[in-house]
Amino acid sequence: MNEKVMRNLSYGLFVLTVKDRDGAKDTGCIVNTVTQVTTTPNRITVAVNKGNYTAERILATKKFAVSVLDTSVKFDLFERFGFHSGRDTDKFRDFHSWDTASNGCAFLTAGANGYLCCKVENVLDLGSHYLFIAEVTDGAVLSRNESCTYAYYHANVKPKPQTDAAGQTVWRCTICGYEYKGEELPPDFICPVCKHPASDFEKVGK
Ligand SMILES: Cc1cc2nc3c(=O)[nH]c(=O)nc-3n(C[C@H](O)[C@H](O)[C@H](O)COP(=O)(O)O)c2cc1C
Repeated sequence: MNEKVMRNLSYGLFVLTVKDRDGAKDTGCIVNTVTQVTTTPNRITVAVNKGNYTAERILATKKFAVSVLDTSVKFDLFERFGFHSGRDTDKFRDFHSWDTASNGCAFLTAGANGYLCCKVENVLDLGSHYLFIAEVTDGAVLSRNESCTYAYYHANVKPKPQTDAAGQTVWRCTICGYEYKGEELPPDFICPVCKHPASDFEKVGK
């Protein structure tokens, strides 16, 4: 099988938000796996890596919000929510573009054209990921901007690959942009940021 065919699937991009441990703070992460699966009732699914703090918090609280990213989104939003874990950082620190949804979770008020409030109905254990099946209990349209697809992110938002100044070989994760420096990328390498395998890396330097 040519694994590259999987890259032909089209995705949206989202910030998945949830209440943090003390209930007062918020946390969350970037995901591309939100899909509406039924309309009556209105249900979505989202796949979240088990290692992500966001997954842990959704398992504990059974509710979350989804902000639908649009084409006005800037790369620093991906850095904030997609490149660090809420275990180590307060992702809402010095971040002001958000408000509170009716289920108590945060939603983005900039870079997003709408949001959904969700209540978890079921959780499937998929090995590496949890698949959350959730009812959409509320939501709003925030702007008429077009939604940001994964393809748009790669073409227009993510910084363009650059050769390493020291002439070192660089392998870049095509999913999140993480860079590995070294002559050979180990075949069992897993991206520390988005947890995708070596097959999702491209050689960009040297
Ligand atoms: C473009 C992009 C798409 C991503 N899609 C997913 C996804 O669908 N599911 C997932 O679990 N992580 C995804 N990630 C990775 C998480 O956002 C990332 O690991 C994050 O740091 C987890 O933070 P947390 O530990 O605070 O939950 C994606 C990251 C990027 C940059």
